[in-house]
Amino acid sequence: MLKVFTEKEQTIAVVSSYKSKGLSVGFVPTMGALHHGHLALVEKALDNNDKVVVSIFVNPTQFDNSEDLKKYPRTLGNDVKLLETLSKEKIIVYAPTVDDIYEGYAVSQSFDFDGLEFEMEGRFRQGHFDGVGTIVKRFLEIVKPHNAYFGEKDFQQLQIIKKLVEKYNMPLNIIGCKIYRETSGLAMSSRNTRLKPEYKNEAPFIYETLKAAKKRFDTNSANKVTKWVEKQFSNDNILELEYFIIADTDTLKTVKKRSNKKTYRAFIAVYADDVRLIDNIALN
Ligand code: PAF
Repeated sequence: MLKVFTEKEQTIAVVSSYKSKGLSVGFVPTMGALHHGHLALVEKALDNNDKVVVSIFVNPTQFDNSEDLKKYPRTLGNDVKLLETLSKEKIIVYAPTVDDIYEGYAVSQSFDFDGLEFEMEGRFRQGHFDGVGTIVKRFLEIVKPHNAYFGEKDFQQLQIIKKLVEKYNMPLNIIGCKIYRETSGLAMSSRNTRLKPEYKNEAPFIYETLKAAKKRFDTNSANKVTKWVEKQFSNDNILELEYFIIADTDTLKTVKKRSNKKTYRAFIAVYADDVRLIDNIALN
């Protein structure tokens, strides 16, 4: 049986016993409702480390919308079964209660991520990255892994976690992993399980549009490509575009003047009914 801990003391004790034996520890933080994208992160962590801690915790402080928090899927039993298909010996799960991880006081710390926090998701989801920063810092302090794994679907989050680790001089590697997609092209997300059939059928349009935008970016300005994408979504009666932005990969600032020395990425957020979906693509 895979070990599932709900208390940080248990997790700290087991991880320090691993470390005292000279074993390497990988960490995959999740909010549960695991899908193949998460499992790929865990597989990568298993390849590179002797032991892997997977946290499962729906973090209340990173939700700006209480309905979204309430509806977020919670499937701990099934998540554990899925992880057991990968390894029963090498993985431990830390699934804390709010009280355990926040010590009874679930509020966010306020962070300065050198401006990364004000772009895109930070602009549309008030306080989101303070919540993410608070919980990830807390987990890293408890688990103290050698390596931690994050998906590129949340590319802005990945950049922010790298900044967090740099600012707090935390001794670990942050490893970004590529986006996993359903066969339709839709980026895998725990939220996909909430899509009604009509929206699920239409959602692959998001990645199709990103791919088309990438092609257009070869010969068109960022502004032109953005206008084109906005038009595609205004012609779509099912999906509602929240933002499409072409940004500098490092600063995440919207590109104004293009430079050959820089790399760019397109970022998108879309509502499919009440389900908010995000995705992104490297452009050059
Ligand atoms: O990406 C997520 O699932 C969450 O933002 C994370 C990193 C587990 C923090 O709650």
